[in-house]
Amino acid sequence: MDLTLNIWRQPAPDKPGRMVRYELKDVNEHSSFLEMLDVLNQQLIERGEDPVAFDHDCREGICGSCGFMINGEAHGPQPRTTVCQLHMRHFKSGETLDIEPWRARAFPVLKDLMVSRTSFDRIVQAGGYITVSTGSAPEANLIPVPKPLADRAFEAAECIACGACVAQCPNGAANLFTGAKVSHLSMLPQGQAERDSRAIGMVERMEAEGFGACSNFAECEAVCPKGISIDFIARMNRDYLRAKAGGVNKVPLSST
Ligand code: SF4
Ligand code: FES
Repeated sequence: MDLTLNIWRQPAPDKPGRMVRYELKDVNEHSSFLEMLDVLNQQLIERGEDPVAFDHDCREGICGSCGFMINGEAHGPQPRTTVCQLHMRHFKSGETLDIEPWRARAFPVLKDLMVSRTSFDRIVQAGGYITVSTGSAPEANLIPVPKPLADRAFEAAECIACGACVAQCPNGAANLFTGAKVSHLSMLPQGQAERDSRAIGMVERMEAEGFGACSNFAECEAVCPKGISIDFIARMNRDYLRAKAGGVNKVPLSST
């Protein structure tokens, strides 16, 4: 298949960027989107041009490193699929694809399609942990976790921190990511000791990082490759408000 690619090229964070047009011939429909860019980059290198910078690591949809906009959609047109798991058979020969980095104030462009997501790291640092005794390995069944809670916590823990939710949100809000990270631990018995400080710390760090406010567009849920539910945003808001009111730890554990 033959494609026309309009790709955002920006040499450095403080340099202006622009869309650059590339014609790519004989793309293998079984290759992944990143493999297609690998082929383009090989051609650019052979021509003595700068290859297109983009983030990736596992290429298995689990690490959260990859991600950019394809024709205005975070991670492209395939539901619940990261760009590393997106295959070229979902596109047609002759198509024109606009490829741009995540656009959000809290995700500054580093180069081309690469953005800095260290703001996410700082949100996690503000409360994404539990207190445990170090030393000997704990008995595995010492703290029973009800199955519905374990399942629900696991759903939240599926977030891979890719940032697609922020990129697709018209407000550039990080509420889905932060809601998943807050909820994952606050639903488990082991996460109760820091439940108040976690909700306050992570929500206020999110706001300090310059993410926008959530206004329930739900674009985040629509593009999330892991299907994280916006229910976790409501759960985070409840934890935050209760903590600010003076003590969420008195609330019984619940999966809702
Ligand atoms: S909530 Fe979904 S879209 Fe947002 S960072 Fe996590 S996995 Fe990515
Ligand atoms: S490269 Fe790891 S999720 Fe895409």
